[in-house]
Amino acid sequence: MTQNELIQALPKAELHVHIEGTFEPELMFAIAQRNGVAIPYQNIDEVKAAYQFHNLQSFLDIYYAGANVLLQQQDFYDLAWAYFERCAADRVVHTEIFFDPQTHTDRGVAFATVINGLQAACDDAKSKLGISSHLIMSFLRHLSEEAAFATLEQALPYQSQIIAVGLDSSELGHPPSKFARVFAKARELGFLVVAHAGEEGPPEYVWEALDVLKVNRIDHGVRAEEDAHLMQRLIADKMPLTVCPLSNLKLCVVNDMAQHNIQRLLKQGVQVTVNSDDPAYFGGYVNANFTTIAEALQLSADEIKQLAANSFESAFISAEDKQYWL
Ligand code: ADE
Ligand code: ZN
Repeated sequence: MTQNELIQALPKAELHVHIEGTFEPELMFAIAQRNGVAIPYQNIDEVKAAYQFHNLQSFLDIYYAGANVLLQQQDFYDLAWAYFERCAADRVVHTEIFFDPQTHTDRGVAFATVINGLQAACDDAKSKLGISSHLIMSFLRHLSEEAAFATLEQALPYQSQIIAVGLDSSELGHPPSKFARVFAKARELGFLVVAHAGEEGPPEYVWEALDVLKVNRIDHGVRAEEDAHLMQRLIADKMPLTVCPLSNLKLCVVNDMAQHNIQRLLKQGVQVTVNSDDPAYFGGYVNANFTTIAEALQLSADEIKQLAANSFESAFISAEDKQYWL
C-alpha cells in the first residue's frame, strides 16, 4: 500500500475547519446569483487568482467578503452539505465544524438562519453519509468583548446544538485574555472551549489560552515550539493541537512545507492532529493536508497512523466512540 492509499483508507476526524472557509468558488457564484448579490469577480479563474495571501489578515479580508453572499438557511445548508461530501470522499468520519455567527449576524442574517441551515446538513450527513459532527461557535477576536457576550446570549436557545465555543480571526493584538470573562461564562454554562493561539501570535498567547481561557484544545499552536517550558506543559497535559499544514504554508506561517514543525512536535510527544482550516482557500481538504506533509516531511506509515489516531483521541466524542475508531 502506498502512503497515499494508506491516508485515503484510514478513518479520520477533522477538528479544525471553518465552514465559511469551505466555500468553493463554484458554489459562491451559484449562491451569489440566486441571491442577486454582486461579487467582485467575473469568473472562477479570477477568484482563484485573488487567493494569494501574505499573512492571516490578507486572507481574512477575502474570506469575510466571500461570506457576504450567504443569506438564506438554504445557503448555509448547501455550504455545509458540500463540505460533508468532501468528508465522505476523504474518509473523514467525524468532524467538528467552526462557524462564525458574527460574520452573518452583523450583516442582518439571523442567528437561527445560520444554525438551522448548518444543523439540517449535520443531520443529513449522519443519516445519509454516516458522518457524525459537532458545531463550534467561534467569536471574532477583532471585535469587542461586549459583542462576544451578545453572541453567547444569542446562542443560548441553541446550546444543545453547540459543543464548544472558540476564538478566531486576527490574532496579533487580540490576546486570549481579552475574552477571559466570556470564556469563563461559557465554561460555567457547560460549553467546552477552544481557541486559535500560536498561529501568528507568540507563545504567550498559547499560555493565556491554557491558563486564562482554560481551553480543551489549542487551534494551530505551532509557535509553541519556541518555548521549551510551554512544550513540556502541552506534552504533560496531553493538550491537543489542531494543526493545519496547508493553511500555514498559504498564510506564510512557514515558508516551505519541508520546514513545517508538525513532525518534530509529534516526535516530542505533542498530541498534534492534521486539519484543513479553510480548504477552499488553501488548496485542499484533510487528505491533501496529509499527503502534502507525508511527502514533504517523509512521514512513516506509523506517523501517519498516529496522526489519524490523535484526531479521534482529541475529538469531543465519548470514550466508546474513540474506542470504535482507534
Ligand atoms: N478564521 C478562518 N480561518 C482562520 C485562521 N486560520 N486563523 C484565524 N481565524 C480564522
Ligand atoms: Zn482556523
